[in-house]
Amino acid sequence: MIIAIDGPAAAGKGTLAKRLAAALGLPYLDTGLLYRATAKRVLVAGANPADEQAALHAAQSLTQADFERPDLRDTETSKAASQVASLPAVRHALLEFQRRFGGQHGAVLDGRDIGTIIFPNADVKLFVTASVEARAQRRWLEFQTRGETVPLAEVIADVAARDEADRTRAAAPLIQAPDATLIDTTHLTADEAFARALEIVQTRQPV
Ligand code: DC
Repeated sequence: MIIAIDGPAAAGKGTLAKRLAAALGLPYLDTGLLYRATAKRVLVAGANPADEQAALHAAQSLTQADFERPDLRDTETSKAASQVASLPAVRHALLEFQRRFGGQHGAVLDGRDIGTIIFPNADVKLFVTASVEARAQRRWLEFQTRGETVPLAEVIADVAARDEADRTRAAAPLIQAPDATLIDTTHLTADEAFARALEIVQTRQPV
C-alpha cells in the first residue's frame, strides 16, 4: 500500500505520516529530507542553491550521512531546500529513489508532489494543511524547544514565502491532487488528525 501525504510546510504531515506508518507497519520516507540534504551539500560546498548544475551534482552525491546531519532544519537550509526543489534536474534526479523506496514493500511518503507526480496511483492520498498562522506557530514552538529564539513574525514570513515558492514554481508545484482527501489541522490536535487519517485509510483500504 502506498500512502501519499502532501501539503505545505509545518502542516503536521511528518508527525501524521510517521504515526500512520507505525500503525500500518509500513516504511516511512520524509521526502523533504532529500531536498534539505541536497541543499546542505550545496551550502557546505560554498555553491549557490539556485545553480542547477551544482544542485544536481549534490543530489547525485547524497549518502546516508547527509540525512543524519543535525542541522537540516535551520532557516538557511530550509530556504535553500525550497530553491533546489524548484530545479527540474534536481527533482528528476531524486524521483527514482522515491519510487523505488515505495515500490519495494509499500510506504507512507510525505512531501509536496507525492500524490501528483511520484505516485499518481497511490492507494490513499491525503492533502494536509492548516492556516499559515497555525503552521508558523508550530514551527516557532519547535524552534523554542531546540533553544532557538526567533521572532514569531519572522517565522510567519518565512513559512508564507516558502508556501508561495512551492506553490508557484513551474516544476511539480504544490497542489492538491483531485483525488486527495483534505485534512485541515488548524483546529485539530495531532491525535485528532491521526484518527481522521486512519479512518480515511481504513475506508479506502480495509486493513
Ligand atoms: O517538507 P519540508 O519542509 O522538509 O521540505 C523542504 C523543501 O523541499 C520545501 O521547500 C519543499 C520541498 N519539497 C518538495 O519540493 N517536494 C517534496 N516532495 C518534498 C519537499
